[in-house]
This record gives sequence, structure tokens and C-alpha cells, in this order.
Amino acid sequence: MADQLHHDNQDGWVGKEPYWKDAVFYQVYPASFKDSNGDGWGDIPGLISELDYLRDLGVDVVWLSPMFESPQKDMGYDISDYQAVYDRYGTLADVDTLIASCHDRNMKLILDLVVNHTSDEHPWFKESRSSKTNPKRDWYIWKPARYDPDGNRIPPTNWRSYFAGPTWTWDDNTQEYYLHLYGSFQPDLNWENPSCREAIYQDTMRFWLDRGVDGFRIDTVNKYSKRTDFPDAPITFPGQPNQPAAEMWCNGPRIHEFIREMQEKVLTPYNHALSVGELSNTPLPSQVLPYVSAANRELDMVFEFSMIRLGTGGAFHGKYLYQPYPLSELKAHVATWQTFLEGTDAWHTVFCENHDNGRAVSRFGDTSSHKNWEGSAKTIALWQGTLTGTLFLYQGQEIGMMNMPRGWGIEEYKDCESMGFYEEAVASGDQDRIAKTMDGLRILARDHSRLPFQWDGSANAGFTGENVVPWMRVHDSAFEDGLNVKAQKEDEESVLGFYKTVLKLRKEYGELFVHGAFRHLLPEDEALFVYVKEGVESGRRALVVLNFSAEEQALSSRGVTVARALGCEEGEEARLLITTLRERERLGIESPERLRPWEGRVYVNFAEGA
Ligand code: GLC
Ligand code: CA
Repeated sequence: MADQLHHDNQDGWVGKEPYWKDAVFYQVYPASFKDSNGDGWGDIPGLISELDYLRDLGVDVVWLSPMFESPQKDMGYDISDYQAVYDRYGTLADVDTLIASCHDRNMKLILDLVVNHTSDEHPWFKESRSSKTNPKRDWYIWKPARYDPDGNRIPPTNWRSYFAGPTWTWDDNTQEYYLHLYGSFQPDLNWENPSCREAIYQDTMRFWLDRGVDGFRIDTVNKYSKRTDFPDAPITFPGQPNQPAAEMWCNGPRIHEFIREMQEKVLTPYNHALSVGELSNTPLPSQVLPYVSAANRELDMVFEFSMIRLGTGGAFHGKYLYQPYPLSELKAHVATWQTFLEGTDAWHTVFCENHDNGRAVSRFGDTSSHKNWEGSAKTIALWQGTLTGTLFLYQGQEIGMMNMPRGWGIEEYKDCESMGFYEEAVASGDQDRIAKTMDGLRILARDHSRLPFQWDGSANAGFTGENVVPWMRVHDSAFEDGLNVKAQKEDEESVLGFYKTVLKLRKEYGELFVHGAFRHLLPEDEALFVYVKEGVESGRRALVVLNFSAEEQALSSRGVTVARALGCEEGEEARLLITTLRERERLGIESPERLRPWEGRVYVNFAEGA
């Protein structure tokens, strides 16, 4: 791996496989990773102090969530100065040190590029709102009011924003509305304006590329082009003033042109700096392909959200009214996105956590007992580690961090989206809706993944000093259940130890796991997730069998034998490559057809060292 970790001299689109396909990415949420100075907020020096931990885990690229100057109303996704560092996170010099420290370890660093909108405290917006004739007026999206038949002022369209409420806020000073797909404190930039685009390229991208960062995770990448006729959205929720309207501002008419321009003017000239786009509301492979087909020269890869949004009631209105779903649905999404790139020049990502979702082990696994927690955290590791695409881990996933305990109340939730939906439920006066929203938040809220990282079993889990009040409460499991890095480091068979092993195997057999062809077996099965990965050139195969249930499951009763699934020829033997079970639990697993509760295994059709 080490020697693959340099950029191609060509522009990275053609020829040799680029480094980022086989690389393991790791997302750091700076507020919650490690506090170095005892103010209760994680910071960049804290992150630097743990780079060796990440390297040892097997991480190649760090994605750092926003650490820019910001009023922090949406945790830094509301930027007021792209070239300054929020002082709780550190200084520009700290970022320079971070870049150098990553590179010294043969790791790379990508930043979060948030350019659909700025904070309303960004100087560009302050200018824009200062008068209708200000040269930056057109850098944001301003529209006059409409009036209803009774003469009441209403917004230019009926669109609902992500955090509840309308996408428009009235500005008294200039007597117009401005557009914001997210909070009213996040006005959308007007990408139709060429000087605005050039300022974005220069101030937010080249500035950091010049300092040595290796690329960007691009926030909201498919929302820069809106429909410019601003029609009302169809009524999906009668009686509501604001309607879901993603088709009005997502994947809009000029989106591919804008992204190609960004690639051509900024990313390609910087030796093809890496780009991974956040592609929400785009569930069809035919819509995704144009963004990631190499021939189109847009993005290296994107995050697609069908799987991770399971259980939500869509992105709007009912998002936090939890909708149960069968395992077969999860598997179908995975199968779609594992196979959509076959025969194309596209590439994709693999992930099951980020800072906008609940923890995977609490959503897709089982935390009802310590044993099931461990089994499911490892099964998830094996699942993710054997899928085709670039693997992204989120901080704490590698130790099996969980959602907040169910007993914690709404006062522990800090996220503006959680607050928007909760307050909306409260305002409805409907007790059932309040209870259901709270229940949904317990599973799906963005807050869960933002709890302080669990380094050890001390009072604040080693995230910050013992007497400090951290910005979010530390999960009890850090001290009560030994769910922390220190305890897991001392135990090679822990979740952490298992992740390390899986990441090594993933690299050793990259042809199978990172690049292999995916074949789904038993797609209708509601307990087992079974698939074959095949090395395209060598014909080597791996059979991945994951028990996503708390009961023993037999493959044989489903008509599957390991040897047949692997296509073993006469005399050829299947070999167990890895199981999630601890050594002492492995007794009796010679019968390969039976899986323990929350056990995952991989069998291969080739000999060791072959
Ligand atoms: C993206 C981010 C999310 C943020 C939103 C607005 O979805 O991942 O955290 O709230 O964009 O910038
Ligand atoms: Ca700090």
C-alpha cells in the first residue's frame, strides 16, 4: 500500500489505478475527536496527537469535517470565513502542521468543502443583503414576495427546508426573500453568477490546495444548480405550507456543467485533487453514473444514501417518524450499488456511518447484550470491509460506538436538525407525534455520532480532562462496558482488533474485496446476508456469510453449501479466511453450514499464501 500512496503523474483519470480506490478513509468530526487543551471541544492538536492511532488502524486518508470560522449553528457547516480556522479548533498553523503530519506518515488529508451556502455572517452575505444594488447582491438568491388572496405576504415558493420551515427568509432591510435549503442562517450561494463561482474556486478551494491538502469531501454537491423558474412543488402533504421540493433544486439543469467546471478549473490543475461528493436525493444508478463516470471528468466518487437513510420517513416532513424495514431491503440497496458500476468506468464508495446519522451498530446491529453488540459490530466490519468501492469509516465505528442510551432526554440532543423536527412536533400539540419523533431521534438523530470519542474508561473517556464539561455528554458505555480504545487495544480480539485485521485483509486481497465483482445469494433471506466476491482477473472467490440475527442460522437448510457457492472444483477445498468469533468461541464451527448469532465469516477458494 505504502508505495501506492502517491499521486499519478498523469491526471489520475486514466492509466494506473489511482491511490484512492484502495485507500481506507476515516472521517474525523473535530469537535468530538480529542480535546488537547481542556475546553471541552475537540481540536486539531488533539487530532494530530492521535494520527499514529489512525495509521496503526490502517487509515490512509483523513477526511476532516469543517474546522473553518463559523458561528457553529450547524456545527461548522455554516462558514463565515473559509480561510480562517475556528479558534476552538486551533489555528492556520495547526492545520499546516496537520497536513505535514499526515504526509509524514504517508497519509493524506481532505477537507470538507461547503459551498452550496455560507453562514449569514459571511462578509459576502453581509454585503449582499446590504442593498439591492450591491455588487454581491446576485451572489445569493433573492426574490420578491408573493401575496395570497387576502393580501398576506408569502414566500416565493412553497419549498420546505431541511431543518423544517420554509426555504425562504424575509429580509426587512431590502424587502426581499433569500433562499436557504438548510437553516435560515445558511443562505444559498448563487452559482449562476460567474464571479461568485470564481470566488468559490479561489477562496475556498485553491487557498487550501495551495497549503497542501489533498482534496475535498464536497458537501451537498448536487444542489448548486436550482431551477431558475422557481415553480411551486406539488402538494405531497396537504394543508402544510411547505412541501418537499428536492426536484426543484437537486440535480438541476446546470449541475454537471458546474461540477465539470470545478474539476477542470481547480481540481485537475492540482494534480487531480481528490473529490468525493455528497449526493443526496439521487437514488437511481442512471442519475448517479454521470457524476462518477471517469469519462465525464466530474467527481472521483460520491456518497449515495439509499441504504443509510433506511428507517427514516424520507428526507423531509416525516424524517424522524421511524419506519421499520426488513433486512432484504437493506441488502437490495447494497446489491444495487455494488453492481451499478460493472461494465462502466465509474467508481463508488462504501460506508455505513457519518456525522449525519445514528451509529451503525445501533441501527443495523444489535446492542441488546454485550455479546450481540460485539458480534454485530464485527459483522458490520466484515460486511463493510468486503464490499467493492472506497471504504469510509467514521470515527468510533472501529470500536463499535453506539447511539446515546435510550434513557437520555431531549436536553442531550444539540443538533439544529433534531431541534427543528422536535420543535415542529411540539408545536403541533400532538402528543403521539412528539413521542414518535423522540423515538425516531433515539435511532436516527445526527447527535448520536457526535458524542465524544471514547479513548479510555476515565470520567470523560479520555476525550477531555476529567473535570471538564464536554460539549456533548460522554456515553456511559465508555466506563460501564469498557467500550473504549484503551480496553480494546489490550484485547487483540476486540472490535478494534478485528477492524485492523479486516482492513489488512481488505488490502491484501484488494482484487477481491475492493475491486471484485459482487454476486448476491439468498436476496430474500431476512436473517443472512450472503454474497460472493470474485476477482475479475484471477477468478479467485470469497464467500461472505453474515448472520444479521440473534439466532443461529444454517446455510445448509437454505440449500447453500460453501464449496458450491465458491464454485470449488473436484478436490478443491474451501478455506475459512476469517470469522468474527473469538478463538474460544470457535469450537465446533467445523460444520461450516451453521452460523452463530451475529457471526460473520469469509471463505475463499484458494490456499493460504497462494
Ligand atoms: C451536509 C452535511 C450536514 C449539513 C448540511 C448543510 O448534508 O453533511 O451535516 O448540515 O450539509 O451544510
Ligand atoms: Ca479543545
